[in-house]
Amino acid sequence: MHKLLWKLSLVLSLFFIISCTNNSEKEEKEEEFLIEDMHSFANPNEIDYQHLSLDLNVSFDEKQLKGSATWTYQKKAEGVNYIQFDTRDLFIEKVIDQNGDALKFELGNHVQYLGQELSIEIKESSGTVQIFYETKEGAEALQWLEANQTFGKKQPFLYTQSETIYARSWIPSPDGPGIRFTYDANIQVPQGMMALMSAQNNPQSKTNNGVYQFEMHQAIPAYLLALAVGDLQFKAIDDRTGVYAEPSQLTAAYEEFNEIGEMVNVAEELYGKYRWNRYDMLVLPSGFPFGGMENPELTFLTPTIISGDKTLLNLIAHELAHSWSGNLVTNATWEDFWLNEGFTVYFERRITEAIHGKDYTDMLWSLSLQSLQSTLEVMEARDTWMKLDLKDKHPDGGLTDISYDKGALFLRKVEETIGREEMDKFLIDYFNHFAFKTISSEQFVQYFNKHVIKDNKDWAKEINLKAWIYGPGIPDNHPVYEVKRFEKVDEAIQNFIADAEYIVEIDREDWSTYEYLHFLNGIEKDAKLKHIESIDQHWHFTKSNNMEILSLWLKLCIQQEYKDAYSRLDQFLDEVGRMKFLEELYPALKKSSLGKEGTINLYQQKKHNYHPITQMEIESLIGLK
Ligand code: BES
Ligand code: ZN
Repeated sequence: MHKLLWKLSLVLSLFFIISCTNNSEKEEKEEEFLIEDMHSFANPNEIDYQHLSLDLNVSFDEKQLKGSATWTYQKKAEGVNYIQFDTRDLFIEKVIDQNGDALKFELGNHVQYLGQELSIEIKESSGTVQIFYETKEGAEALQWLEANQTFGKKQPFLYTQSETIYARSWIPSPDGPGIRFTYDANIQVPQGMMALMSAQNNPQSKTNNGVYQFEMHQAIPAYLLALAVGDLQFKAIDDRTGVYAEPSQLTAAYEEFNEIGEMVNVAEELYGKYRWNRYDMLVLPSGFPFGGMENPELTFLTPTIISGDKTLLNLIAHELAHSWSGNLVTNATWEDFWLNEGFTVYFERRITEAIHGKDYTDMLWSLSLQSLQSTLEVMEARDTWMKLDLKDKHPDGGLTDISYDKGALFLRKVEETIGREEMDKFLIDYFNHFAFKTISSEQFVQYFNKHVIKDNKDWAKEINLKAWIYGPGIPDNHPVYEVKRFEKVDEAIQNFIADAEYIVEIDREDWSTYEYLHFLNGIEKDAKLKHIESIDQHWHFTKSNNMEILSLWLKLCIQQEYKDAYSRLDQFLDEVGRMKFLEELYPALKKSSLGKEGTINLYQQKKHNYHPITQMEIESLIGLK
């Protein structure tokens, strides 16, 4: 819609809100704020997007989703003539209203990162628009896997990744985190396959006809819309948690995750009732670009979290924590991403602490601070504010240590200042107050000052809220950790660097994954080939099944050109599509004697195993784009 028209209708809509408000409604309305999201074409200040009814056929032959999205809406003001949606690479066939009458629509020009605005002319003050559409090949949210890219190698697989702004590439939608709606879906898949969604009633066995119906009565933003289709089976953990995986992975997944039911109870004890229906987990094929994705009711997980000894389950603690921070209380725009991820990392660590104790969890805090500090060394100051500046940028640019580790460190600072009891009281109130709502950094500041700081000047000074949110780096009085369990590791690092044979002296009987990660991080700068050889000879890391250790190890092997690890590296690059790992390995290869050209060649052979989002990221890192 034309900018001027948009402004005019905004004024009208405000006028409408004010003029229609009697006194009792006034209080409620005062909380209403205008959503300005630079990454969405939707017009939520004019339109209430209430419900989505999705009807889709999944064709593996054509690698296409085809069907319709029906949106129930209500105008927020008179004089609003358009309902606007985000789309990206969608083919829009036609749009009809609730009476079956065709509606005029227009697809705007393609805008970098954002896709195309779909603007539909509407006359009624409320009703539905049914958009008939097809996805195109290469839709960014979708990874279509051939049978041979799955564990079972018998049936193909499809899954979506909607966060941050990819929902628009498979559903015409108001694709900003500040807009919530309920949904239902009717999904047709080939017979013999199972479909799952971020919905309340996921099937626990396959249907005979390949038709699946879903309902989601709790309002969610578009980035939490999710679908997976494959040869899947379910195994219950308890009466509200369970795991879905390909048949060959199910037992291993179940054994790794069988204490997650208990973890949900732990989370509830910390910050209040779990507000969703079930907490199930889906183990995806290994091309999945992330560790986990907090799709409501059904966390999506990389299979690389299954290490056989439950040591990587903090990742599930993280996705579970999003059921409060993120899914319940959602960042208003992607510039406020720290409100999703910083809170979640803090909550994740509290869960880990409740289960494994403080000494163990301090290792995680310390690794996160180390990582943050090295990020700060290389980042431009303006990119290190918690409130991001994403103008002319893709919101995925916010996926850095700043939102995660600086955000969490800030909350730890708050805890250290006000004490744990106050902290937990604040968080419980916060989750209740903003439940099923969105929050911006500015609203956070307001809420925090009103409910926590009140008139305590010492706290205000000590916490220095604005310096964290709107300032670079980390304030000098940030928390520091004395990590008992790392003291021994630090000593081992020093001795080992001085003498590679020292390895046999290292007492690592009670080491967990995190001591090993700290050790490898600690030797990276000074290690020589002889150190790498010595580690492999005694600790056999090239054969490790712990993907966190293995990926860091392979990076060190590339740096020292330790050729004995290269066949494992080759296999790893074939099988694992997790971005966090690949982002380290490909640049290391480029820096090695393989060089840019060799790395690009290697990448070209592997890329068909990677999700479109991962391909974009790696290509920009190795200079292919
Ligand atoms: N929501 C994120 C993943 C995400 C963020 C996807 C932004 C796309 C855009 C998820 O909760 C996450 O943070 N995953 C981490 C987990 C880790 C921090 C424990 C991951 O995948 O590594
Ligand atoms: Zn997260």
